[in-house]
Amino acid sequence: MGLFFNNKRKKSEKSEEIIIDKTNIPAHIAVIMDGNGRWAKERNLPRTMGHRAGMDTIRKIVKESSKLGVRYLTLYAFSTENWKRPEDEVTALMKLVVEFIGKEINELHKNEVVFNVIGDISKLPQVCQESIFSAKEKTKNNKGLTLNIALNYGGRDEIVSGVKKIAQEILDNNIKVEDIDEQLISNHLYTSGMPDPDIVIRPSGELRLSNYLLWQSAYSEFWFSNINWPDFTERDLHKAISDYQNRNRRFGGV
Ligand code: IPE
Ligand code: IPE
Ligand code: MG
Repeated sequence: MGLFFNNKRKKSEKSEEIIIDKTNIPAHIAVIMDGNGRWAKERNLPRTMGHRAGMDTIRKIVKESSKLGVRYLTLYAFSTENWKRPEDEVTALMKLVVEFIGKEINELHKNEVVFNVIGDISKLPQVCQESIFSAKEKTKNNKGLTLNIALNYGGRDEIVSGVKKIAQEILDNNIKVEDIDEQLISNHLYTSGMPDPDIVIRPSGELRLSNYLLWQSAYSEFWFSNINWPDFTERDLHKAISDYQNRNRRFGGV
């Protein structure tokens, strides 16, 4: 691991100037917030402290994204597979969701952020569901960035639930089989009405999607970094956007 995994920044990386084209800001940025556990381990802290530190990064990155004019920011906070973790870690994560909303919602509201959740929240503890509901209600008419928190989210689970809804509409004679097309499927996902992510960012050194936005990321640009999420800064976001702006998105064309 030590040979190629290096989460320390090089000196040159710290000083290098990052140029962002303000006229070509990605409309939708998706992030797999990973590496909280490793961040904590490096410091001999319990994993939960890593998740807590990760919350501070959320605050910073939401603020910076808003400032840059990003329209949608989708943050992977808890996957359908994360229930496999020890019960105390799962409980701590659920508590952090409630704590985050409680602490941040007024500031988010002030900044015109629309708070939203993607995923099957019916499986979350009741207090979580209630705080999500009130945060969504409070911010639903805001005009700024839409913040999607992916909670009990799985790309495959999302597609399964979309397919079920479509099948039911056919049984109810509301639509016909011939009506099924890509747009109709998109409209039956949690991200209905939102543009697909332009860029998917994954810190922590893992090079995989982990069941994130499988349908929506068909033509997303991917950006990986060895920095753990609690250490991720505004500068890293700028670097990701700047790299994105230097890519050539062809969408299958020439
Ligand atoms: C990401 O950090 C947060 C969640 C998945 C909830 P991890 O907890 O996965 O951190 P690592 O991967 O163990 O370092
Ligand atoms: C993906 O991270 C899920 C979230 C960041 C919420 P994981 O840490 O759960 O992913 P794997 O297990 O390394 O693929
Ligand atoms: Mg992880």
